[in-house]
Amino acid sequence: MKKIKVMTVFGTRPEAIKMAPLCLALQERADQFAAVTVVTAQHREMLDQVLEIFKLTPDYDLDIMRRKQSLAEITSTVLTALQPILVKERPDIVLVHGDTTTTLAASLAAFYQQIPVGHVEAGLRTWHKYDPYPEEMNRQLTDVLADLYFAPTAQSQANLLREGHPADAIYVTGNTAIDALRQTVHAGYHHAVMDELDPTKRMILVTMHRRENQGAPMAGVLKAIRAVVDAHPDIEVVYPVHLSPAVQKVAHAVLDGDPRIHLIAPLDVVDFHNLAAQSAFIMTDSGGVQEEAPALGKPVLVLRNTTERPEGVAAGTLKLVGTDPDAVAAAMTTLLDDQAAYARMAQAKNPYGDGHATERILAAIAHTYGDGPLPAPFDPQA
Ligand code: UD1
Ligand code: UDP
Repeated sequence: MKKIKVMTVFGTRPEAIKMAPLCLALQERADQFAAVTVVTAQHREMLDQVLEIFKLTPDYDLDIMRRKQSLAEITSTVLTALQPILVKERPDIVLVHGDTTTTLAASLAAFYQQIPVGHVEAGLRTWHKYDPYPEEMNRQLTDVLADLYFAPTAQSQANLLREGHPADAIYVTGNTAIDALRQTVHAGYHHAVMDELDPTKRMILVTMHRRENQGAPMAGVLKAIRAVVDAHPDIEVVYPVHLSPAVQKVAHAVLDGDPRIHLIAPLDVVDFHNLAAQSAFIMTDSGGVQEEAPALGKPVLVLRNTTERPEGVAAGTLKLVGTDPDAVAAAMTTLLDDQAAYARMAQAKNPYGDGHATERILAAIAHTYGDGPLPAPFDPQA
């Protein structure tokens, strides 16, 4: 039987982490699929960390990252650079992931060539145009262009149906983040940063990078974190700082010089997942971290006003705190000082996947373009 040619396109750290299990599975199933892996390298170092960990070698590397690149630059360079590759390879389907500018530009490039688009992690919504910015519009527009939808949860499926996307093109698969997480966390893990930490102190893991938080909101949150650290002698903070110059500037300006706050380089995903597993709790504005923490049983204070990941809030693991410094300090203090409040949030629940999202996505593609059976949907209660 003719192989189904599947092109995966991704460019940033989170896309790579969540597409890696899929790329590897496509390669393993070479009898059924012809895999073409394209990276835009919207991120460079932070993408390469992931490629190295998963031992992924792209067939094409567009190498588009420039320091302080604008959204328009990313969009136009991805569009232009992908066109000849799409023309040459003519895949049966292009798979994109999530909500980055790579995601939208690659979907548009595929549409221009009239090549079907499959959207992995489709249907996440806040319904706020600028929150998160530009991700909410990136994912809504991608779903307008897409032909197949891999919705991680029933909630994301419902969002797609509400927008009028056809029910028979939507598959509830779970999130491939959980597939990745299953390969990374192990007991007895050690990282050099732990030598700098006092094992008798509680460790809080922080990440913050969103565009709508850059500048004053981020400075306010980080000042609040510093004040809480100064008031609690038994805690330490580890913050792997995103390489964006806008993030680096504020993080170092506010947090440098505190012996119990460790600003470090971005961690590779194995290091990050294991440090998360060893933390007391996590503070973040990241999307992916909100999916991983419930599976690890780690409370998360979400440093945003909205979330497209309500399942973790409903499960009790995520608390939407926003960026008001007083609210951030109060939420931290509660988790640190109120054991019952901490215990309520620190229960391992996993609304986002069972580690088999990759299989369901490949089965859905085989069902659509070959003669495979309809895959059973992900059910968190099963
Ligand atoms: C991008 C995504 C965001 C995602 C985030 C994950 C868009 C618009 N945003 O945001 O949805 O949550 O990635 O981390 O697609 N840089 C480096 N090296 C790297 C990576 C980034 O130096 O490996 C610097 C560059 O100066 C770059 C800047 O960071 O200009 C910002 O990168 P960019 O991809 O534009 O946006 P992010 O904020 O990373
Ligand atoms: N992550 C990582 N190293 C770090 C910080 C995060 O590998 O130093 C991982 C994290 O486990 C998650 C993903 O990166 O899988 C989230 O990426 P990011 O926060 O950059 O993007 P978002 O999810 O917000 O789009």
